[in-house]
Amino acid sequence: MFSRIVRPTLNTARKFSTSQQNNYRVTVCGAAGGIGQPLSLLLKLNPLVTELNCYDIAPFTPGVACDLSHIETASKVKGFAGQESLKDALSNAEVVVIPAGVPRKPGMTRDDLFGSNANVVKTIFECATEACPDAIFCIITNPVNSCVPIACEVMKKANKLNPRRIFGVSTLDIVRANTFVGEMCGVNPKEMNVPVIGGHSGITIVPLFSRATPKVSIPKDKLDALTKRVQEAGTEVVNAKAGHGSATLSMAYSGARFANSILRALTGEQDVTECAYVMSDVTEVEYFASPVKLGKCGIEQNCGVGDINEYEENKLCEAMEQLKKDIKKGIEFVQKGD
Ligand code: NAI
Repeated sequence: MFSRIVRPTLNTARKFSTSQQNNYRVTVCGAAGGIGQPLSLLLKLNPLVTELNCYDIAPFTPGVACDLSHIETASKVKGFAGQESLKDALSNAEVVVIPAGVPRKPGMTRDDLFGSNANVVKTIFECATEACPDAIFCIITNPVNSCVPIACEVMKKANKLNPRRIFGVSTLDIVRANTFVGEMCGVNPKEMNVPVIGGHSGITIVPLFSRATPKVSIPKDKLDALTKRVQEAGTEVVNAKAGHGSATLSMAYSGARFANSILRALTGEQDVTECAYVMSDVTEVEYFASPVKLGKCGIEQNCGVGDINEYEENKLCEAMEQLKKDIKKGIEFVQKGD
Protein backbone atom coordinates (compact mmCIF):
# COMPACT_ATOMS: atom_id res chain seq x y z
CA MET A 1 0.00 0.00 0.00
CA PHE A 2 1.06 3.61 -0.35
CA SER A 3 2.63 4.77 2.84
CA ARG A 4 1.99 8.38 3.79
CA ILE A 5 5.18 8.33 5.84
CA VAL A 6 7.57 9.13 3.04
CA ARG A 7 10.93 10.35 4.19
CA PRO A 8 11.74 12.94 1.56
CA THR A 9 15.30 13.29 0.34
CA LEU A 10 16.55 16.74 -0.54
CA ASN A 11 15.65 16.19 -4.18
CA THR A 12 12.13 14.99 -3.63
CA ALA A 13 11.24 17.33 -0.79
CA ARG A 14 9.84 19.97 -3.07
CA LYS A 15 7.71 17.51 -5.02
CA PHE A 16 6.15 15.55 -2.16
CA SER A 17 4.83 17.15 0.95
CA THR A 18 3.91 14.70 3.71
CA SER A 19 2.04 17.43 5.56
CA GLN A 20 -0.20 18.52 2.71
CA GLN A 21 -3.81 18.36 3.79
CA ASN A 22 -6.43 17.38 1.25
CA ASN A 23 -9.35 16.40 3.47
CA TYR A 24 -11.59 19.13 4.81
CA ARG A 25 -14.58 19.51 7.10
CA VAL A 26 -17.30 21.59 5.49
CA THR A 27 -20.59 22.76 7.00
CA VAL A 28 -23.52 23.98 4.92
CA CYS A 29 -25.97 26.24 6.80
CA GLY A 30 -29.34 26.22 5.06
CA ALA A 31 -28.63 22.77 3.64
CA ALA A 32 -32.27 21.74 3.23
CA GLY A 33 -33.19 24.66 0.94
CA GLY A 34 -33.40 25.22 -2.79
CA ILE A 35 -29.70 26.06 -3.00
CA GLY A 36 -28.60 24.07 0.03
CA GLN A 37 -29.63 20.66 -1.27
CA PRO A 38 -27.95 20.71 -4.71
CA LEU A 39 -24.96 22.54 -3.20
CA SER A 40 -24.57 19.81 -0.58
CA LEU A 41 -24.83 17.23 -3.36
CA LEU A 42 -21.99 18.89 -5.28
CA LEU A 43 -19.88 19.12 -2.11
CA LYS A 44 -20.54 15.42 -1.41
CA LEU A 45 -18.99 14.75 -4.84
CA ASN A 46 -15.91 16.88 -4.11
CA PRO A 47 -12.96 14.64 -3.18
CA LEU A 48 -11.44 17.40 -1.03
CA VAL A 49 -14.44 17.22 1.32
CA THR A 50 -14.23 14.36 3.81
CA GLU A 51 -16.81 15.51 6.37
CA LEU A 52 -19.98 17.29 5.32
CA ASN A 53 -22.28 18.70 7.99
CA CYS A 54 -25.72 19.68 6.73
CA TYR A 55 -27.46 22.18 9.02
CA ASP A 56 -30.87 23.81 8.65
CA ILE A 57 -33.78 24.84 10.85
CA ALA A 58 -35.99 22.54 8.72
CA PRO A 59 -36.82 19.38 10.71
CA PHE A 60 -36.26 17.08 7.70
CA THR A 61 -32.56 18.03 7.39
CA PRO A 62 -31.33 14.66 8.77
CA GLY A 63 -33.29 13.11 5.89
CA VAL A 64 -31.38 15.22 3.37
CA ALA A 65 -28.14 14.09 5.01
CA CYS A 66 -29.27 10.44 5.01
CA ASP A 67 -30.10 10.70 1.31
CA LEU A 68 -26.68 12.20 0.50
CA SER A 69 -24.87 9.66 2.68
CA HIS A 70 -25.87 6.85 0.28
CA ILE A 71 -23.77 8.36 -2.52
CA GLU A 72 -20.65 6.30 -3.18
CA THR A 73 -18.04 8.90 -2.26
CA ALA A 74 -15.80 8.63 0.78
CA SER A 75 -17.03 11.67 2.70
CA LYS A 76 -19.16 11.30 5.82
CA VAL A 77 -22.40 13.29 5.94
CA LYS A 78 -24.23 14.34 9.11
CA GLY A 79 -27.52 16.17 9.42
CA PHE A 80 -28.35 18.79 12.05
CA ALA A 81 -31.86 20.21 12.45
CA GLY A 82 -32.88 23.15 14.61
CA GLN A 83 -31.00 26.05 16.10
CA GLU A 84 -30.00 24.07 19.20
CA SER A 85 -27.78 21.92 16.96
CA LEU A 86 -26.03 24.85 15.23
CA LYS A 87 -22.99 24.76 17.51
CA ASP A 88 -22.43 21.05 16.92
CA ALA A 89 -22.89 21.53 13.18
CA LEU A 90 -20.25 24.27 13.08
CA SER A 91 -17.84 22.73 15.56
CA ASN A 92 -14.37 22.33 13.99
CA ALA A 93 -15.59 23.25 10.50
CA GLU A 94 -12.81 24.46 8.23
CA VAL A 95 -15.10 25.87 5.55
CA VAL A 96 -18.67 27.07 6.18
CA VAL A 97 -20.98 27.76 3.24
CA ILE A 98 -24.14 29.74 4.05
CA PRO A 99 -27.24 29.71 1.81
CA ALA A 100 -29.64 30.02 4.81
CA GLY A 101 -32.52 32.45 4.59
CA VAL A 102 -35.46 33.62 2.53
CA PRO A 103 -35.20 34.05 -1.27
CA ARG A 104 -36.86 36.77 -3.38
CA LYS A 105 -40.36 36.69 -4.84
CA PRO A 106 -41.33 38.67 -7.97
CA GLY A 107 -41.25 42.41 -7.34
CA MET A 108 -38.73 42.16 -4.48
CA THR A 109 -35.19 43.53 -4.45
CA ARG A 110 -32.43 41.72 -2.60
CA ASP A 111 -32.52 44.51 -0.03
CA ASP A 112 -36.16 43.62 0.74
CA LEU A 113 -34.76 40.41 2.26
CA PHE A 114 -32.75 42.32 4.86
CA GLY A 115 -35.55 42.18 7.46
CA SER A 116 -35.63 38.37 7.41
CA ASN A 117 -32.06 37.44 6.58
CA ALA A 118 -29.95 39.88 8.63
CA ASN A 119 -30.86 37.99 11.79
CA VAL A 120 -30.19 34.61 10.18
CA VAL A 121 -26.62 35.64 9.33
CA LYS A 122 -26.08 37.35 12.69
CA THR A 123 -27.19 34.23 14.61
CA ILE A 124 -24.95 31.90 12.59
CA PHE A 125 -21.90 34.13 13.06
CA GLU A 126 -22.55 34.65 16.78
CA CYS A 127 -22.37 30.89 17.14
CA ALA A 128 -19.36 30.64 14.82
CA THR A 129 -17.34 33.02 17.02
CA GLU A 130 -17.21 30.15 19.52
CA ALA A 131 -17.61 27.03 17.38
CA CYS A 132 -15.27 27.68 14.45
CA PRO A 133 -13.81 31.22 14.52
CA ASP A 134 -10.92 30.22 12.24
CA ALA A 135 -13.05 28.71 9.48
CA ILE A 136 -13.36 30.23 6.03
CA PHE A 137 -16.90 31.54 5.56
CA CYS A 138 -18.70 31.78 2.21
CA ILE A 139 -21.90 33.84 2.48
CA ILE A 140 -24.55 33.23 -0.18
CA THR A 141 -27.51 34.67 1.78
CA ASN A 142 -28.90 37.90 0.33
CA PRO A 143 -28.54 40.80 0.52
CA VAL A 144 -24.84 39.83 0.23
CA ASN A 145 -23.86 43.54 0.14
CA SER A 146 -25.13 43.90 3.74
CA CYS A 147 -24.71 40.34 5.06
CA VAL A 148 -20.90 40.36 4.75
CA PRO A 149 -20.63 43.57 6.83
CA ILE A 150 -23.00 41.96 9.39
CA ALA A 151 -20.77 38.88 9.60
CA CYS A 152 -17.61 40.95 10.00
CA GLU A 153 -19.18 43.18 12.66
CA VAL A 154 -20.29 40.15 14.69
CA MET A 155 -16.78 38.68 14.48
CA LYS A 156 -15.23 42.05 15.34
CA LYS A 157 -17.43 42.37 18.45
CA ALA A 158 -16.15 38.99 19.66
CA ASN A 159 -12.55 39.94 18.84
CA LYS A 160 -12.40 37.11 16.32
CA LEU A 161 -12.46 39.02 13.03
CA ASN A 162 -10.16 37.77 10.31
CA PRO A 163 -11.38 39.60 7.18
CA ARG A 164 -9.22 37.39 4.96
CA ARG A 165 -11.55 34.50 5.77
CA ILE A 166 -15.01 36.02 5.22
CA PHE A 167 -16.35 36.01 1.65
CA GLY A 168 -19.56 37.13 0.00
CA VAL A 169 -20.18 34.70 -2.85
CA SER A 170 -20.73 36.70 -6.05
CA THR A 171 -19.57 33.86 -8.31
CA LEU A 172 -22.98 33.55 -9.97
CA ASP A 173 -22.47 37.02 -11.49
CA ILE A 174 -19.24 35.81 -13.10
CA VAL A 175 -20.86 32.56 -14.22
CA ARG A 176 -23.72 34.49 -15.84
CA ALA A 177 -21.40 37.00 -17.51
CA ASN A 178 -19.32 34.11 -18.91
CA THR A 179 -22.43 32.37 -20.21
CA PHE A 180 -24.09 35.41 -21.78
CA VAL A 181 -20.98 36.77 -23.47
CA GLY A 182 -19.94 33.30 -24.60
CA GLU A 183 -23.35 32.81 -26.23
CA MET A 184 -23.19 36.24 -27.86
CA CYS A 185 -19.66 35.86 -29.24
CA GLY A 186 -19.74 32.16 -30.11
CA VAL A 187 -17.19 31.13 -27.47
CA ASN A 188 -17.63 28.11 -25.20
CA PRO A 189 -18.74 29.72 -21.87
CA LYS A 190 -16.47 27.29 -20.03
CA GLU A 191 -13.48 29.00 -21.70
CA MET A 192 -14.67 32.51 -20.80
CA ASN A 193 -13.58 34.50 -17.79
CA VAL A 194 -15.21 37.86 -17.17
CA PRO A 195 -14.28 39.60 -13.91
CA VAL A 196 -17.27 41.17 -12.14
CA ILE A 197 -16.63 43.82 -9.49
CA GLY A 198 -18.61 46.08 -7.14
CA GLY A 199 -21.28 44.22 -5.21
CA HIS A 200 -24.02 41.63 -5.67
CA SER A 201 -27.28 43.43 -6.47
CA GLY A 202 -28.63 45.37 -9.44
CA ILE A 203 -26.47 48.35 -10.39
CA THR A 204 -23.74 47.36 -7.93
CA ILE A 205 -22.89 44.43 -10.23
CA VAL A 206 -20.25 45.72 -12.66
CA PRO A 207 -19.07 43.20 -15.28
CA LEU A 208 -15.72 44.06 -16.88
CA PHE A 209 -16.12 42.83 -20.45
CA SER A 210 -13.04 44.84 -21.48
CA ARG A 211 -11.00 42.41 -19.37
CA ALA A 212 -12.68 39.23 -20.58
CA THR A 213 -10.41 36.36 -21.51
CA PRO A 214 -10.30 35.25 -24.24
CA LYS A 215 -10.67 38.77 -25.62
CA VAL A 216 -14.08 39.38 -27.11
CA SER A 217 -15.39 42.20 -29.20
CA ILE A 218 -18.86 43.29 -28.12
CA PRO A 219 -20.64 45.66 -30.51
CA LYS A 220 -21.15 49.06 -28.82
CA ASP A 221 -24.93 48.93 -29.28
CA LYS A 222 -25.08 45.56 -27.47
CA LEU A 223 -22.83 46.35 -24.50
CA ASP A 224 -25.45 48.16 -22.44
CA ALA A 225 -28.07 45.43 -22.87
CA LEU A 226 -25.48 42.76 -22.00
CA THR A 227 -24.36 44.60 -18.87
CA LYS A 228 -27.98 45.10 -17.76
CA ARG A 229 -28.73 41.44 -18.40
CA VAL A 230 -25.95 40.41 -16.02
CA GLN A 231 -27.16 42.95 -13.44
CA GLU A 232 -30.78 41.76 -13.69
CA ALA A 233 -30.20 38.05 -14.35
CA GLY A 234 -31.36 37.13 -10.85
CA THR A 235 -34.66 38.91 -11.48
CA GLU A 236 -34.96 37.06 -14.82
CA VAL A 237 -34.97 33.79 -12.83
CA VAL A 238 -37.26 35.13 -10.07
CA ASN A 239 -39.83 36.16 -12.68
CA ALA A 240 -39.48 32.93 -14.65
CA LYS A 241 -40.10 30.91 -11.46
CA ALA A 242 -43.17 33.10 -10.84
CA GLY A 243 -43.23 33.10 -7.05
CA HIS A 244 -41.42 29.79 -6.56
CA GLY A 245 -38.06 31.18 -5.49
CA SER A 246 -34.92 32.55 -7.09
CA ALA A 247 -31.85 30.97 -8.71
CA THR A 248 -31.05 27.71 -6.95
CA LEU A 249 -29.36 25.33 -9.39
CA SER A 250 -27.04 27.86 -11.05
CA MET A 251 -26.30 29.20 -7.55
CA ALA A 252 -25.54 25.74 -6.21
CA TYR A 253 -23.11 25.29 -9.13
CA SER A 254 -21.55 28.69 -8.43
CA GLY A 255 -21.33 28.06 -4.67
CA ALA A 256 -19.69 24.69 -5.29
CA ARG A 257 -17.25 26.27 -7.75
CA PHE A 258 -16.31 28.93 -5.19
CA ALA A 259 -15.99 26.43 -2.33
CA ASN A 260 -13.82 24.23 -4.54
CA SER A 261 -11.52 27.17 -5.26
CA ILE A 262 -11.25 27.86 -1.52
CA LEU A 263 -10.43 24.19 -0.87
CA ARG A 264 -7.87 23.99 -3.71
CA ALA A 265 -6.12 27.06 -2.29
CA LEU A 266 -6.17 25.50 1.19
CA THR A 267 -4.29 22.48 -0.17
CA GLY A 268 -1.54 24.83 -1.28
CA GLU A 269 -2.44 25.07 -4.95
CA GLN A 270 -1.03 28.29 -6.39
CA ASP A 271 -2.72 30.92 -8.54
CA VAL A 272 -6.30 30.29 -7.51
CA THR A 273 -8.21 33.51 -8.14
CA GLU A 274 -11.93 34.23 -7.82
CA CYS A 275 -13.94 37.42 -7.70
CA ALA A 276 -15.62 37.82 -4.30
CA TYR A 277 -17.24 40.49 -2.14
CA VAL A 278 -14.92 41.06 0.80
CA MET A 279 -13.74 43.60 3.35
CA SER A 280 -11.54 45.75 1.18
CA ASP A 281 -9.32 48.79 0.89
CA VAL A 282 -9.05 48.92 -2.89
CA THR A 283 -11.75 51.62 -3.28
CA GLU A 284 -13.46 54.18 -1.04
CA VAL A 285 -15.99 51.60 0.24
CA GLU A 286 -15.21 49.20 3.08
CA TYR A 287 -16.58 46.14 1.29
CA PHE A 288 -16.13 45.51 -2.41
CA ALA A 289 -16.14 42.66 -4.91
CA SER A 290 -12.94 42.27 -6.92
CA PRO A 291 -10.64 39.45 -8.03
CA VAL A 292 -8.84 38.00 -5.01
CA LYS A 293 -5.97 35.55 -4.99
CA LEU A 294 -6.74 32.71 -2.60
CA GLY A 295 -4.25 30.93 -0.35
CA LYS A 296 -3.99 28.79 2.74
CA CYS A 297 -5.19 31.66 4.94
CA GLY A 298 -8.05 32.81 2.75
CA ILE A 299 -7.34 36.00 0.81
CA GLU A 300 -3.67 36.11 -0.09
CA GLN A 301 -3.92 39.22 -2.20
CA ASN A 302 -6.71 41.51 -3.30
CA CYS A 303 -6.04 42.20 -6.97
CA GLY A 304 -8.19 45.36 -6.89
CA VAL A 305 -10.08 47.01 -9.72
CA GLY A 306 -7.29 46.98 -12.33
CA ASP A 307 -7.59 48.65 -15.72
CA ILE A 308 -11.14 49.50 -16.73
CA ASN A 309 -12.57 51.54 -19.60
CA GLU A 310 -14.70 54.67 -19.41
CA TYR A 311 -18.00 52.78 -19.71
CA GLU A 312 -17.05 50.52 -16.79
CA GLU A 313 -15.81 53.48 -14.75
CA ASN A 314 -19.22 55.14 -15.12
CA LYS A 315 -20.96 51.93 -14.07
CA LEU A 316 -18.68 51.72 -11.05
CA CYS A 317 -19.58 55.31 -10.07
CA GLU A 318 -23.28 54.37 -10.23
CA ALA A 319 -22.58 51.36 -7.99
CA MET A 320 -20.75 53.23 -5.26
CA GLU A 321 -23.65 55.19 -3.70
CA GLN A 322 -25.82 52.07 -3.46
CA LEU A 323 -22.95 50.03 -2.05
CA LYS A 324 -22.30 52.63 0.65
CA LYS A 325 -25.96 52.48 1.75
CA ASP A 326 -26.03 48.67 1.78
CA ILE A 327 -22.81 48.47 3.80
CA LYS A 328 -23.93 51.10 6.32
CA LYS A 329 -27.20 49.23 6.84
CA GLY A 330 -25.34 45.99 7.66
CA ILE A 331 -22.86 47.61 10.02
CA GLU A 332 -25.54 49.57 11.87
CA PHE A 333 -27.71 46.49 12.24
CA VAL A 334 -25.06 44.89 14.45
CA GLN A 335 -23.79 48.05 16.14
CA LYS A 336 -27.25 49.40 17.03
CA GLY A 337 -28.38 45.97 18.19
CA ASP A 338 -26.06 46.35 21.21
P1 NAI B 1 -34.89 28.42 0.29
O1 NAI B 1 -36.02 29.06 1.01
O2 NAI B 1 -35.20 27.40 -0.73
O3 NAI B 1 -33.89 27.77 1.32
C1 NAI B 1 -33.41 28.45 2.42
C2 NAI B 1 -33.16 27.48 3.53
O4 NAI B 1 -32.66 28.24 4.64
C3 NAI B 1 -34.43 26.75 4.01
O5 NAI B 1 -34.20 25.37 4.01
C4 NAI B 1 -34.66 27.31 5.39
O6 NAI B 1 -35.21 26.35 6.29
C5 NAI B 1 -33.24 27.68 5.81
N1 NAI B 1 -33.19 28.66 6.89
C6 NAI B 1 -33.97 29.73 7.09
N2 NAI B 1 -33.61 30.35 8.21
C7 NAI B 1 -32.57 29.67 8.72
C8 NAI B 1 -31.77 29.81 9.87
N3 NAI B 1 -31.98 30.79 10.75
N4 NAI B 1 -30.77 28.93 10.06
C9 NAI B 1 -30.56 27.92 9.18
N5 NAI B 1 -31.30 27.72 8.09
C10 NAI B 1 -32.29 28.59 7.86
O7 NAI B 1 -34.01 29.62 -0.35
P2 NAI B 1 -32.85 29.49 -1.46
O8 NAI B 1 -33.45 29.64 -2.79
O9 NAI B 1 -32.03 28.32 -1.14
O10 NAI B 1 -32.03 30.84 -1.16
C11 NAI B 1 -31.28 31.00 0.01
C12 NAI B 1 -30.62 32.36 0.05
O11 NAI B 1 -29.65 32.50 -1.01
C13 NAI B 1 -31.59 33.53 -0.15
O12 NAI B 1 -31.28 34.56 0.75
C14 NAI B 1 -31.32 33.99 -1.57
O13 NAI B 1 -31.65 35.33 -1.79
C15 NAI B 1 -29.83 33.75 -1.66
N6 NAI B 1 -29.28 33.70 -3.02
C16 NAI B 1 -28.03 34.21 -3.20
C17 NAI B 1 -27.45 34.21 -4.44
C18 NAI B 1 -26.08 34.76 -4.61
O14 NAI B 1 -25.66 34.93 -5.76
N7 NAI B 1 -25.33 35.04 -3.57
C19 NAI B 1 -28.15 33.69 -5.63
C20 NAI B 1 -29.45 33.13 -5.31
C21 NAI B 1 -29.99 33.16 -4.05
